Amino acid sequence: MAITIKDVARESGVNISTVSRALNNGYGVNPQTRDLVVSVASRLNYRPNRVARGLVTGRSHSMALVVSDIRNPFFAEVARGAADAARTDNCDLILCNSDLDPVRQMEYVKSLLEKRVDGILMNSVSPLSAEDQAELVECGVPIVLLNRSAASKAFSTVSADNEAGGVLAAQHLLKLGHRKIAHVTGPRQHGNLSDRTRGFVQTLEDAPRPVTPIVLHGPFNFEGGRDLSARLLAEHPETTAIFAANDVMAFGAVRTALDRGLRIPEDLSLIGFDNIEFSSIIHPPLTTIHQPKYEMGQAAVEILLRLARDKTRRTPESRVLGVELIERQSCGRRS
Ligand code: RIB
Repeated sequence: MAITIKDVARESGVNISTVSRALNNGYGVNPQTRDLVVSVASRLNYRPNRVARGLVTGRSHSMALVVSDIRNPFFAEVARGAADAARTDNCDLILCNSDLDPVRQMEYVKSLLEKRVDGILMNSVSPLSAEDQAELVECGVPIVLLNRSAASKAFSTVSADNEAGGVLAAQHLLKLGHRKIAHVTGPRQHGNLSDRTRGFVQTLEDAPRPVTPIVLHGPFNFEGGRDLSARLLAEHPETTAIFAANDVMAFGAVRTALDRGLRIPEDLSLIGFDNIEFSSIIHPPLTTIHQPKYEMGQAAVEILLRLARDKTRRTPESRVLGVELIERQSCGRRS
């Protein structure tokens, strides 16, 4: 039989409410009583029923992170920041992979709401219908969107300055003398990616000697980077530099370069986005745009915790974190 709070109270010779306050660092319990209750609870191997406690406090001390695909190491670092921040408030983090499939995404959200999570951190609502989005706004549980710019007024958002990242990538390639430049990126509806593309293309077109880059859209993963760059180099072998919309796509472009016998950076320069850990390990180490992934996860949970604690002041908040060019060995000079 599971030990209940009643057993701890009986064994300690105090009432249930004193046990509850003693175990939850509540008010009005003298230190000796607290020590006694804690030692009895430990001796009896008592485990508090957090579901029952949640009914009293209105908090489940769990929150969820819904990402498109945890296999992208970008999300692992975000998840780490989010989990560490959640722990500061004794919260567990539940992880869900949505593949950005709107049906699966809504199924997860409904199940999480039924579990009474304190908040949901999700990397996009863009695939959802207007009705589903309205349902999320009305659901009463704080939601923070990751990778979305403040354009979404209904939700809190946390993102890196994606447009500035695109600008940095373009400036770097221009500085190295590249003129035949391409950009391989994901589907058009991803706001964070379009921001990168906008900054990149605009900077190239505004240069003293303007450059019009080739932009190719496809799957936002290793295979996408590999196949788009294969198509690009077959149709435009004169290309000297590629900006990939994330590091995983850049790894796909490295694969294509190897398959075609091209040397990086001698024959082809390559720049990524994210600065995941593997980017400094591959050969040659990848020049990329760093986004503060851990801090993004942390910031998103900080917002969720604030919104979960203060139900009367649920004004959405948006944070944009800075990006930085990390210069390694995958970009070379062109004369
Ligand atoms: O959708 C995942 C991607 O978006 C990551 O690779 C990272 O670039 C993020 O902003």
